[in-house]
Amino acid sequence: MSLKGLKALVTAGPTHEPIDPVRFIGNRSSGKQGYAIAEALAEAGADVTLISGPTALQTNLNLTRVETTQEMLAACEQNLPADIAICAAAVSDWAPVTFADHKIKKREGEDTLTLTLKKNPDILRTISRHKNRPKLVIGFAAETQDVLENAQAKLSSKGCDWILANDVSGGKTFSADENHVYLITKSGTEEWPRAHKTEIARQLIDKIAEYFKNGQ
Ligand code: CTP
Repeated sequence: MSLKGLKALVTAGPTHEPIDPVRFIGNRSSGKQGYAIAEALAEAGADVTLISGPTALQTNLNLTRVETTQEMLAACEQNLPADIAICAAAVSDWAPVTFADHKIKKREGEDTLTLTLKKNPDILRTISRHKNRPKLVIGFAAETQDVLENAQAKLSSKGCDWILANDVSGGKTFSADENHVYLITKSGTEEWPRAHKTEIARQLIDKIAEYFKNGQ
């Protein structure tokens, strides 16, 4: 199925929030699922921009590398308008309020360190409510419990069209080559069999092509 003529934006990987010149807050996302989706969109003929946090992955796609959530948001907004946005990144929800110019040193007699964090912007929600909102906005839900209920709640709180929900508890999913997802839309939930992330990506692209073919 062809997605020729459609412009797509994909976020992938983790974001890193610097604490000082040598430390950051991050997470275990490898970026594999987001990169696989971006590659599959390009194979289907879409004009793809991949906006990636720090990962070890290589690609020949049109790639913007970012580090922080603020940078990822800015790169996304620069790439609107688009027809499709897929937010596969595992965005850090929190960032340190201050960045220490020098490495934070241990102090004699102090056994704890308190970091004050502030909430990061929500990229998926911002894209879903943007004046240049893509026609189809897809998010992920990384859950460790009550996967379906939490993911269904995210569909409405974020304002996106579809959510791919996965269980990331106990080292499942993050870094793995396979994924087990549920596709949640306003009209219902589908469970997809566990499969390689490239296969999940292809399945998603078929759904997207069907959506645009039906003129929705
Ligand atoms: N997301 C985002 N910006 C954020 C946080 C999340 O764009 N600041 C996007 C993710 O890319 C994903 C979706 O929102 O598509 C859900 O992310 P997830 O980590 O599952 O949930 P959170 O929104 O962070 O909510 P919670 O931590 O309460 O589960």
